[in-house]
Amino acid sequence: MKILAVSASPRKEGNSDVLCDWFLKGSSESGHETAKIRLAEKNISPCSACYGCRENHLCVKKDDMEEIQHQLITADVIVLATPVYFYCMDAQMKIMIDRCLPHYREMTQKRLYFIVTAADPGHSASDETLSGLRGFLKCLPGAQECGVIYGTGAWDKGDIYRHPALDKAYQAGKNV
Ligand SMILES: Cc1cc2nc3c(=O)[nH]c(=O)nc-3n(C[C@H](O)[C@H](O)[C@H](O)COP(=O)(O)O)c2cc1C
Repeated sequence: MKILAVSASPRKEGNSDVLCDWFLKGSSESGHETAKIRLAEKNISPCSACYGCRENHLCVKKDDMEEIQHQLITADVIVLATPVYFYCMDAQMKIMIDRCLPHYREMTQKRLYFIVTAADPGHSASDETLSGLRGFLKCLPGAQECGVIYGTGAWDKGDIYRHPALDKAYQAGKNV
């Protein structure tokens, strides 16, 4: 299978970014094809709600979203990883999701995993973030939520290396 991780943290090798790597390491060891997109390294501007895409399913914006959308459509498994910012997903993730407007109906039968990291130690710290990600999943035809990796209680870069989520991400990726 093709496993695609979308890492929304602005911090390279930040907590959620590391969890993506461990998920993909597991998947790769199980023989799957893996790819990772770091949104912070991409040029994606927000949806302007012009609805130009109603006509021809093409976005008027010419930026990196075109290639990302192609990867999202062709992946079998999509891992969405975001830090919790003010108890929501971060802006990078939300901008990418909104830009799926022209093509989200082509993202059929996807298996989705969510990775969330937050300083707050309780799993409930990610409730609103997961609710937002599940809202996106709800719009994708035949999509299935396959797991959540909670990196809650991780604040500084590197905290995740002492966190049980690291192994959980690896195992989830291995058994995808
Ligand atoms: C702008 C901003 C807002 C944040 N808001 C929250 C929050 O609401 N709750 C929380 O527990 N942690 C919050 N944090 C902490 C991050 O979620 C935490 O450091 C997380 O591990 C970052 O993940 P990353 O390393 O993958 O970027 C915030 C951090 C930033 C920079």
